[in-house]
Amino acid sequence: MFIGQNFIELPAVESTNSFASELLKTTPPDGTVVFTRDQTAGRGQQGNTWYSQPGQNLTFSLILYPKGFPAQQIFFLNKLFSVALRDLLQVHMPQQKVQIKWPNDLLVNRKKVAGMLVENQISGMYISSTIAGIGLNVNQVDFPEGEYGTATSMSRESGNEFSLNHLLEDLLRKIEARVLAMRAGRTDAVEREYLQYLFGYQEKIPFEIDGQVEERYLAGVDQHGRLALQQGRKLEYYNIKEVKFCL
Ligand code: BTN
Repeated sequence: MFIGQNFIELPAVESTNSFASELLKTTPPDGTVVFTRDQTAGRGQQGNTWYSQPGQNLTFSLILYPKGFPAQQIFFLNKLFSVALRDLLQVHMPQQKVQIKWPNDLLVNRKKVAGMLVENQISGMYISSTIAGIGLNVNQVDFPEGEYGTATSMSRESGNEFSLNHLLEDLLRKIEARVLAMRAGRTDAVEREYLQYLFGYQEKIPFEIDGQVEERYLAGVDQHGRLALQQGRKLEYYNIKEVKFCL
């Protein structure tokens, strides 16, 4: 395996993504993993904070150099990590319903169990490097109320405890297999699995658009990562800031 060959474990760190971003200046090896059991100021999407109780969950960042992967298809990497995470969750929780929620979340029984913060560095037409930050709630059972009312963990949903080491090893393998396929030009399996497990795909469901709740048919996700929503014959594309699911 090349992913995780260079494995940096930090006793505690504010954010593995921020650490990885500093590390990138020293050109660390492809597949470097920055891991901690105690992330004290985790970063989430859109400037949010990612809370994780020490020792309970997976919080890590993976550095990849996608080598010649067009910046135009930037969202493919999010799809790849989503599909690998879904695979992991389903294998370890075969009884539960696991879905991918556009653009960066994984759901178990319609509740958020994992989030991703993928930060790409672009050089010209290509992605020069990617920092994939993954937060997977594993053994934590208490979550703050309110905004995080829909958060859950593998343990909360299944009643089982999991080994963080085993899960991480398994997840890195699942990511690596797909990265190797991508490098060999095979992207179809990820695309297919992504749609197969995408929450709301080919359904008419409510979304919050411009502060209003509106029903739309979820037609897919384009290569830039925009959500394609259909109303009648009209197909419209939305980015992350323009639309929200009503879960
Ligand atoms: C989200 O759902 O908003 C994305 C959460 C991403 C959290 C992970 S935890 C490891 C990595 N380091 C960070 O600071 N954030 C990501």
